Amino acid sequence: MMFKWKLCTFFLYVTCVCVMLKINHNVVDWVPTQIQCACQICLEDNQLPVHRFNASPVPFLYQDCKLEEDTFNWWKEMQTETRNFSTYRKTVQALFDVIPPSPDLIKATPDVCRTCAVVGNSGNLKGSHYGRLIDVHDIVIRMNSAQTGGFEEDVGTRTTHRVMYPESAVDLDNSTHLVLVPFKILDLEWVVEALTTGFTGQSYAPVKSKITANKDLVMVVNPEFMRYIHETWLKNKGKYPSTGFMALILALHICDEVYVFGYGADGEGNWSHYWEKLKDKHLKTGVHSGNQEYDILQELAKQKTVTFYRGW
Ligand SMILES: *[C@@H]1O[C@H](CO)[C@@H](O)[C@H](O)[C@H]1NC(C)=O
Ligand SMILES: *[C@@H]1O[C@H](CO)[C@@H](O)[C@H](O)[C@H]1NC(C)=O
Ligand SMILES: *[C@@H]1O[C@H](CO)[C@@H](O)[C@H](O)[C@H]1NC(C)=O
Repeated sequence: MMFKWKLCTFFLYVTCVCVMLKINHNVVDWVPTQIQCACQICLEDNQLPVHRFNASPVPFLYQDCKLEEDTFNWWKEMQTETRNFSTYRKTVQALFDVIPPSPDLIKATPDVCRTCAVVGNSGNLKGSHYGRLIDVHDIVIRMNSAQTGGFEEDVGTRTTHRVMYPESAVDLDNSTHLVLVPFKILDLEWVVEALTTGFTGQSYAPVKSKITANKDLVMVVNPEFMRYIHETWLKNKGKYPSTGFMALILALHICDEVYVFGYGADGEGNWSHYWEKLKDKHLKTGVHSGNQEYDILQELAKQKTVTFYRGW
């Protein structure tokens, strides 16, 4: 009897040691090699268990960045670009005659904690009273024509970055960054011309000929980064990622802490915007894989990579 107990205790001991070693091993795996920000957990430490996160794709175009023909061939399918790679390269170069040679970003340093609010346009913001929770962050990212006037209590007032494309563009104030998501060569031409001489080209929808925005704060999302989002995050689901999803992944790459508001359907399951009455009840997420994108957001929230405010 005594012997059996001893044997039992021995095995229990061995199991415990093994379990502890295993836990220890996992902990060691995730400990950042160096502290990269002043938050408790820093997203840039790519040891974080975010299984799709890859720190190498460069989020924004900069002067002399390498442009791959292979990426161009992927990118041109999004809105059936018919012009060629050398035209694309020339157009990208011409961007930097007007916008800064590199994007104006807060650098990651050990003594700074860059916190970001990513604010989607969902009707679930209505009645949420999230305004003050949104406005406290260093960076407040909004998208397309999202308005704040009249909705301040629920959506806040500040916009440091606005992610948009020519067909969704609105005028900005002098301190807001225009973050262009380019889907075709025309979009790159548009940003240059709309900020200077005026744009005269034509797109599939009306486009503003002139835009009010601070040229020094313009940044252009790198097609290579869009491809990374589509392939690595969405596993090629949907035709291409939605602006909202791109804004979310951008935030993961330029912020140390990410707070997400206004994503997903509203409380009644409608995909509506907070500033308008839903006209088309059957409106879904179009060419985008809305469900896939939402599932990833939920997963990021579950593993505490982002803090997700689900709305009302
Ligand atoms: C690309 O298109 C431009 C303008 O249409 C043309 O002049 C040029 O020869 C083309 N380049 C190549 C490599 O096909
Ligand atoms: C906008 O900001 C820039 C600096 O980025 C400054 O040079 C310019 O004078 C400002 N314009 C206005 C209208 O405040
Ligand atoms: C959501 O859709 C339902 C019908 O599907 C409609 O009755 C309701 O008014 C919509 N809610 C909003 C907030 O638009």
